[in-house]
Amino acid sequence: MLDAILQQAIDSGRLGATPFYWYESIGSTNQKALEMVRDGWSGQAIVMAESQTSGRGRLGRSWVSPAGTGLYVSIVLWPQVAPEDLSKVTLVAGVAVNRAINLEANIATMIKWPNDILADCKKVAGILAESTAVTSRGKTAVVLGIGVNVTTPLEDFPSELSGKVTSLLAVSGKVIQRGALLKRIVSEISRQMELLEQGHFSKILEEWKARDATLGKRLHWINSSKQAVYGVSMGPDKEGRLRVRDSSGKVHEVISGDVNLADS
Ligand code: BTN
Repeated sequence: MLDAILQQAIDSGRLGATPFYWYESIGSTNQKALEMVRDGWSGQAIVMAESQTSGRGRLGRSWVSPAGTGLYVSIVLWPQVAPEDLSKVTLVAGVAVNRAINLEANIATMIKWPNDILADCKKVAGILAESTAVTSRGKTAVVLGIGVNVTTPLEDFPSELSGKVTSLLAVSGKVIQRGALLKRIVSEISRQMELLEQGHFSKILEEWKARDATLGKRLHWINSSKQAVYGVSMGPDKEGRLRVRDSSGKVHEVISGDVNLADS
């Protein structure tokens, strides 16, 4: 069911001032947004779908995207930051989506590095930031793909995700309007991006740290040599890289990959 905000965005082709593209069904909104950039799109855009047939998750996983029950959206941004700061956009997005969910669904959520949003210790939203080699006016596009399980029935997820995923409905008991949530996400992303572009990443990081789901906990991740490394999370450093201390006291810097609590 389309709510009034979504219907208006579809009819006008805009959400606020941003061009809005809506699809009943699509392979992946991220794929579509990246294609737009490769084809010369040089502004901001929002691409949304009711369902995705090949929804993409981080690290080559897929994102379960049944029709009308989740928010599947990709936002094309052109961050005004130095190339070495582009990786920070992923943490910025985590803070923005976390805030938007708190405000719209009124539930407490935490962030698992780099940007999984957890409610009741289960994943309720995920973010996939992708970019292309294409630049415009010296800037690189970042496509922020955001998936939120809004009313997604938990039985729609594969059994291996059982107990690891949840929905806003399951946690809050309320049906959150996807249009209102999207509007909030877009405005939070724009606020947080402005902070990043003005050089205030430390403020964003402060908020990220206040929501850190794994600080001080034992976890493991697969390093670039495909080895599992176990340690205790020390939280992100000032650049947003996760620090993990292993049992020998060595501190590792995690720049990509997936972290898992040691007993998960
Ligand atoms: C993750 O693995 O946590 C990231 C999930 C990102 C899913 C969203 S849904 C909209 C956008 N289009 C995609 O194909 N993926 C992202």
